[in-house]
Amino acid sequence: MSTVHHQTFAVPYAFDAHFTRDVFAPDNDALVKAMHPRVGGRPARALIYVDEGAIRQNPKLIQAIHLWFAAHEADGVQLAAAPEVIPGGEALKGEIAILDKVGRACFDNGICRHSYIIIIGGGAVLDAVGFAASIVHRGIRQIRLPTTVLAQCDAGLGVKNGVNRFGSKNFYGTFTPPSTIINDARFLESLDDRSWRAGIAEAVKVAIIKDADFLVQLGERAVKLRERDLATMEWLIERCALLHLDHITKAGDPFEQGSSRPLDFGHWSAHRMETLSNHRLLHGEAVAIGVAIDSLYAVELGRITAEEGDRILTILATCGFRLWDEVLDLRDATGHRAVLIGLTQFREHLGGELTLAMPEGLGKRSDIHDFEEPLFERVLTRLKRWRPANVPVPTR
Ligand SMILES: NC(=O)c1ccc[n+]([C@@H]2O[C@H](COP(=O)([O-])OP(=O)(O)OC[C@H]3O[C@@H](n4cnc5c(N)ncnc54)[C@H](O)[C@@H]3O)[C@@H](O)[C@H]2O)c1
Ligand SMILES: [Zn+2]
Repeated sequence: MSTVHHQTFAVPYAFDAHFTRDVFAPDNDALVKAMHPRVGGRPARALIYVDEGAIRQNPKLIQAIHLWFAAHEADGVQLAAAPEVIPGGEALKGEIAILDKVGRACFDNGICRHSYIIIIGGGAVLDAVGFAASIVHRGIRQIRLPTTVLAQCDAGLGVKNGVNRFGSKNFYGTFTPPSTIINDARFLESLDDRSWRAGIAEAVKVAIIKDADFLVQLGERAVKLRERDLATMEWLIERCALLHLDHITKAGDPFEQGSSRPLDFGHWSAHRMETLSNHRLLHGEAVAIGVAIDSLYAVELGRITAEEGDRILTILATCGFRLWDEVLDLRDATGHRAVLIGLTQFREHLGGELTLAMPEGLGKRSDIHDFEEPLFERVLTRLKRWRPANVPVPTR
């Protein structure tokens, strides 16, 4: 004889995404709003981590942060310590040392659950420091200031963080929504061409599965995007960010308790290609190839037409992406393509059966649960030979 007492509770989350320029200009109050200072009470304190890449071309940023906090002291916000500059990029996610580094600074500076960790950086810095913030005292509020295109339109908005381990992307991590996101377009001006371009892949990805009009507009504006028109990029980022936020807040499974990961269309191979290339490929560069692969796979399944598949590849190529990488030719000891391990890792990350998002007509999606290697081989043969009409083939 046994008894069962079923329990259930829900925790509401609410956060704002700001789109601005010059967040540390003295008259910009986005960060004051984000820190919810308690008037008449103790000031809201913050530790700040800054991606080294974001200050390389902008060495006055640290000074601007100090000046901004000094100017807003009366608003009840305070720096708990001088901002810490850390090397950005995927290498940071390969080291769990970042956990102790952030933990130690929180310990030394008396950071509590009513304090903030402000993370200024690309997706890698947001993921690694965000993970650290999420485990200190079981979760310090984090304000994200993404500084790359990819981070502003995708990584910075999500509820996930993590570090890589055992050759597997994001093996350790938590689901922790941000307290606030502030997208400042000025940060994008110092990106090199590769990091400028990389995030565009996430916009193409989300357009294919959620918004056919957006995909058409991306095609129309692909040349402007390649030519680094900032206003066009701001348009892309806001549209892409809102599609991601809409999914996270309304699709009913923000913490991925089911087996479906629609926002990870094209990612099963992308994550594997990143690892196989020893992170020579940026996440967004791998996503562009992964999206091309899964789009051609969708053509093979009759879910989109050959013309639609070609249009997707042409948009990516016009933006400047290379759609083939030599890691796709690597084989494991059994003679299978090494990239295919990505399917197993993708499935194991969520558990349950293999679930891949696929377009079902442009702008719509549904999941598939089988993956056929012969079809995949046909896709790779086509992709390797594919050349866009009237688009210069990108080189690096
Ligand atoms: N948590 C999520 O939901 C989520 C979603 C998508 C991607 N990601 C992760 O995000 C990471 C990729 O992020 P990314 O594309 O931003 O690359 P990144 O963070 O690796 O940054 C790329 C390079 O740009 C530099 N940089 C950052 N900001 C700069 C600036 N303003 N000017 C000049 N250089 C700058 C960095 O120092 C780094 O060298 C991957 O680890 C990926 O797995 C996470
Ligand atoms: Zn991604």
